[in-house]
Amino acid sequence: MMEQVNGKTKLYGLIGNPISHTLSPAIHNRIAHILGDNLIYLPFHVLEENIPNVMKSIETLGISGFNVTVPHKKSIMPFLTELDDLAKQIDAVNTVKKVGNKFIGFNTDYYGLINLFENHNIGLEGKTVVILGAGGAAYSAAVAVASQNAKKLIIVNRTLKNANNLAQHIKKYYNTSVDVLEMENLCEITFCDCVIQTTSVGIGDTKNTSPIPVHLKSFFKRTTVAIDIIYNPWETVFLKDAREMGCQVVNGFEMLVYQAVAAYKIWNDKSIDKQVIEDVKLFVKQYV
Ligand code: ATR
Repeated sequence: MMEQVNGKTKLYGLIGNPISHTLSPAIHNRIAHILGDNLIYLPFHVLEENIPNVMKSIETLGISGFNVTVPHKKSIMPFLTELDDLAKQIDAVNTVKKVGNKFIGFNTDYYGLINLFENHNIGLEGKTVVILGAGGAAYSAAVAVASQNAKKLIIVNRTLKNANNLAQHIKKYYNTSVDVLEMENLCEITFCDCVIQTTSVGIGDTKNTSPIPVHLKSFFKRTTVAIDIIYNPWETVFLKDAREMGCQVVNGFEMLVYQAVAAYKIWNDKSIDKQVIEDVKLFVKQYV
């Protein structure tokens, strides 16, 4: 990578906090390497209070585009000139493209999930889908599910108020029937085609726990497919429980790769074929 950097190299990056464990630089720089694009992608550790200064720097330095991760996906929005329709619906931005003197916000987490559904033959049309969580990640999952014409979406969260806010938000854009439920009442769900785990439970300090407590694990017996958007650990407790109880299980690795691929396409106005994506997956897996 480094030997290719010259006066014409375009700079892209990721802003977030924390940032040290991100795989995005590995994904983007690998794609650029395969496609022979003269660009480099770097991680930037950015604190909330520095976002205004960072935006000025991005402008001044001529950075061509950047990704936004936790916890800045909403707070970046007031600094952008325009939002595309999906970013508006999801009410969060993970990709920004500089076009002339405009900053345009996109949300490619949506495409990450849609590609994951496609690659695992998970068709959601007419299906009942449960989303665990009602934070930022749940918004992109809920829009992805509603956009697939699911029959029913059930948002299950520790705090009912947050689930209600997400339900109201989705109803503004889609006709999908949306219910909300507290985690403790999970046993009320009699049938679930697909559950998508979007909470932060299962990563870092909570890697030995699942958002579904042991006494509610029989939920998996009534569930066909279980998706966890976490990819590190590769198999969360949530996915292990689901697998042991007979569900088809999928982790968040493909979502990660495909949201990056979608951002790369937006920035560089080019398509990326399947063979390149398979190479990127193999390359990046070694770092998980
Ligand atoms: P993100 O933007 O990454 O989704 P977030 O906005 O902090 O992160 O949301 C985290 C989600 O995980 C929320 O749904 C949160 O539940 P609450 O709405 O009740 O806060 C959920 N979550 C976090 N810690 C949890 C825990 N220990 N048990 C159950 N749910 C938890």
